[in-house]
Amino acid sequence: MSVVALVPAAGRGVRLGLGMPKALVPVNGESLLLRAVRGLLAAGCVQHVVVAAPPDQVELVAAELAELPAAHVVPGGSERTDSVRLALDVVEQVAPEARVVLVHDAARAFTPASVIQDVVRAVEQGAPAVIPVLPVSDTIKRVDEAGDVVSTVDRAELRAVQTPQGFAIDVLREAYAAAGDIATDDAGLVERIGGKVHTVAGHPNALKITTAFDLAIAESVLAAGAPQSTGELA
Ligand code: C5P
Repeated sequence: MSVVALVPAAGRGVRLGLGMPKALVPVNGESLLLRAVRGLLAAGCVQHVVVAAPPDQVELVAAELAELPAAHVVPGGSERTDSVRLALDVVEQVAPEARVVLVHDAARAFTPASVIQDVVRAVEQGAPAVIPVLPVSDTIKRVDEAGDVVSTVDRAELRAVQTPQGFAIDVLREAYAAAGDIATDDAGLVERIGGKVHTVAGHPNALKITTAFDLAIAESVLAAGAPQSTGELA
């Protein structure tokens, strides 16, 4: 049973402020995208990757991934949802036999193979949708518009969600067919159609590189080959 991963990478990377799509930002000389796609394929359970690139940079992105013949690049859309939808549409041609699909952020370029494997395994074992999660370590408050605290949320039942998110392909297709508007969370679309979403353990190294500070962490720690422990201190 083959597994295909979709990587929406068609954003402009405005928040990092480096004047290039975030996916192409280099970390110690190699782009987040190349690292992320190589990581997916190196996990040993993903056979194809479909990357959605900025429409005017498809060739540039394809050149970036030229060393990985299992990576396919398609033009993305104006919103992330459109980019995932466009990538999902080509799965039929790229991997018609695929029954499991992952959706992964290029910005989570250092996701350990074990997380990818755990997500795929859980879908193969029958879960319609699977997300890697971490406990929340910060205290979380609910605040009103004036900035005053309304209540303290019990963090024991909260989880921060990472990627790759995994799906039975028919479930993701159904969720996207039902999704009219913009969604930042693919599993959320499955929830909306009444589908059950299972969780597996995420990993601190699967952080989403969003700010210059995250990038500095990646350059100083992760790209150097950090040990794959959870890094938990207490
Ligand atoms: O901008 P944001 O961090 O929400 O983007 C999340 C992911 O979605 C990024 O990897 C970005 O490249 C991707 N994206 C996309 N198509 C868009 C906008 C964002 O593939 N039109």
